[in-house]
Amino acid sequence: MQVSDKDKLQAIPAYYLLQDYEATAATHRWEDVEKQFSWFHTGEVNIAYEAIDRHAESSRKNKVALYYDDGDRKETYTFYDMKCKTNQVANVLQDKTTLVKGDRLFIYMPRQPELYFTLLGALKLGVIVGPLFEAFMEGAVYDRLDDSDAKVLVTTPSLLKRVPLDRLPKLETVFLVGDDIEETDSVYHLTRQMSQASEQFNITWVAREDGMLLHYTSGSTGAPKGVLHVHNAMIQQYQSAQWVLDLQEQDIYWCTADPGWVTGTAYGIFGPWLNGVTTLVVGGRFSPQNWYQALASYHVTVWYSAPTAFRMLMGAGEMVKDYDLSSLRHVLSVGEPLNPEVIRWGIETLGHRIHDTWWMTETGAHMICNYPSMAIKPGSMGKPLPGIYATIVDDQGNEVKPYTMGNLAIRKGWPAMMRAIWGNQERYDAYFLQGEWYVSGDSAYQDEDGYFWFQGRVDDVIMTAGERVGPFEVESKLLEHPDVLEAGVIGKPDPVRGEIIKAFIALREGVAPSEQLITDIQNFVKTGLAAHAAPREIEFKDKLPKTRSGKIMRRVLKAWELDLPTGDLSTMED
Ligand code: WT7
Repeated sequence: MQVSDKDKLQAIPAYYLLQDYEATAATHRWEDVEKQFSWFHTGEVNIAYEAIDRHAESSRKNKVALYYDDGDRKETYTFYDMKCKTNQVANVLQDKTTLVKGDRLFIYMPRQPELYFTLLGALKLGVIVGPLFEAFMEGAVYDRLDDSDAKVLVTTPSLLKRVPLDRLPKLETVFLVGDDIEETDSVYHLTRQMSQASEQFNITWVAREDGMLLHYTSGSTGAPKGVLHVHNAMIQQYQSAQWVLDLQEQDIYWCTADPGWVTGTAYGIFGPWLNGVTTLVVGGRFSPQNWYQALASYHVTVWYSAPTAFRMLMGAGEMVKDYDLSSLRHVLSVGEPLNPEVIRWGIETLGHRIHDTWWMTETGAHMICNYPSMAIKPGSMGKPLPGIYATIVDDQGNEVKPYTMGNLAIRKGWPAMMRAIWGNQERYDAYFLQGEWYVSGDSAYQDEDGYFWFQGRVDDVIMTAGERVGPFEVESKLLEHPDVLEAGVIGKPDPVRGEIIKAFIALREGVAPSEQLITDIQNFVKTGLAAHAAPREIEFKDKLPKTRSGKIMRRVLKAWELDLPTGDLSTMED
């Protein structure tokens, strides 16, 4: 296939949902968006109703909501089908569990239709859903279920082996999706139960500020934190899906993220479905063939993915020419800096300039983006979503002049903002400066036209292949290995993955370093925490640099690695 830039430009509709960025930014009021929702008229709120039932009761009833394809299973569900399936899940949960509004249910399974039925079905009951990425291993699963006192888990027989049930006394009921399942009074076969359940359900109405999703994410210190989002997030997810994703009635939309990460819920589920748009979910693992095939055979028009995936496709080279990707009209990226090289590749091979978007688990929805109708400066994250005030502040919370590097901050109080860190008010409060600014942990500057330019993380958080990993979690796991005495973990720049995880390790006395030991330690983290959290590189040291209070100085490790000056070492022990 050959696409020239010119052909592509003609295929893009002249009409964008956000036509005039500056004018909209000047006049936008979130109160006006609320009028688009049923609850504005009925007073009854539930995001699952707005995402599914509203369409099932409209002319979109027989419109495809979900295409699912993992190579083996190829399935199609209309909005009406989704309403029935989610109602069945809600009925099953109501009959077989003690779940009430506000209780936590976790979903731990690969991307497949049942994941989507369960997530929305549980929301219909007013339950808070915690989606877990299937690659998590026992330690990661335990931390999250334990921290949130989860009552119910929906998983598969093979993933259940990684759940330490005996250490989770609050967990009452397990639902399994798969074959050969024996039911007991606390373990049920989800799809068997669904098939016996009614397709009618009376939705539990909630308040806009009631809990909806609990997404665990990493910081530079401490255990992963549970970021709580509320039903009110729909206001911003709905609007940004129009302004940023430019989703329109006829679109076939594909977001490649797993619902274990916030992109996979906010824009893999809610953004498109709140707008009644057809969504594709591709199951299974990434492969360039499968992804190009999916784009071509489903005639995807809007595609939301991440820099690491684009770089891997770039690495697959000429293969792209075997696929007809002419249906694409808008391509977006999130999660890591989008290098100009990738943007160039997008223009040359896809015929599209990839639009970068910046936001975080904590922000719940798009914050700073490039809009189709706005002039793009390659390398910039773009401008704030209309209705959002973003800025750069110094460490005291004073706004700084253009081109001054500082903390990327947002004025508190946007619709999709996290409302709590689960069970930890102190950690929640620590995000806010002067009671006014949400401080992101990213450093950036703004240019004279108001565009934002990402510079890096202020803290030690690692972004590897678009996944956010806290060095503390990896270090803690490494310390559980019998041969490891001390461990310090950093992100090391990598041309494909953005960063890879590198561990510096001091071994216990009498243990000799070896290639075999490196593999053994890597597997220890892979099987204990998650494959993506395992260090790709390990370097043994006799001693690690530490402060006098015994804290590993990752800054010094990073300087060693990158051959940079180590800076002030006055707090380092001898
Ligand atoms: C961190 C948040 C919700 C999106 C997925 C990641 C980095 C995110 C960009 C971008 C450069 C980016 C930041 C941020 N990040 N988008 N467009 N350019 N960096 O969510 O796992 O909560 O991670 O991802 O460092 O703080 P997350």
